[in-house]
Amino acid sequence: MIVDHIGYAVRDIDRARTEFEGLGYTFEESVFDVDRNVCIQFGNNGEYRVELISVMDREKEAPVVDVLKKNGPTPYHICYRSSDLATDIEKLKKKNWIVMIPRARALAFDRSGGGSVVFLYHRYVGMIELVEMGSLGDMD
Ligand code: NI
Repeated sequence: MIVDHIGYAVRDIDRARTEFEGLGYTFEESVFDVDRNVCIQFGNNGEYRVELISVMDREKEAPVVDVLKKNGPTPYHICYRSSDLATDIEKLKKKNWIVMIPRARALAFDRSGGGSVVFLYHRYVGMIELVEMGSLGDMD
């Protein structure tokens, strides 16, 4: 599977963005994912793509809160592109991967035609994300 992006948990997305721009990244518009309580920005640098993720409302839960508490700003997932999410999830489950965050629509990919993502965990690898682009049509 091809890597789509590396996800970074960051405390202050604007400051992080400035630093990543200094490293040569060019950023897309921010996406506010209210359901997940996160703000997301994708930055591109040649073949490489990062996803900066920060908490919108610090009073509420968000997937990156624990990561930030434990490690501070840090890369915490690699996302792979899938052309068939349902099939890939089944394949990985047979290899002892477990679904951590079930398949859901990913707002951040809506601009590029929509997409859905799933987070999986393996005890010897840790967490990965899979994204299937343009897959809103076959969501349950
Ligand atoms: Ni991601």
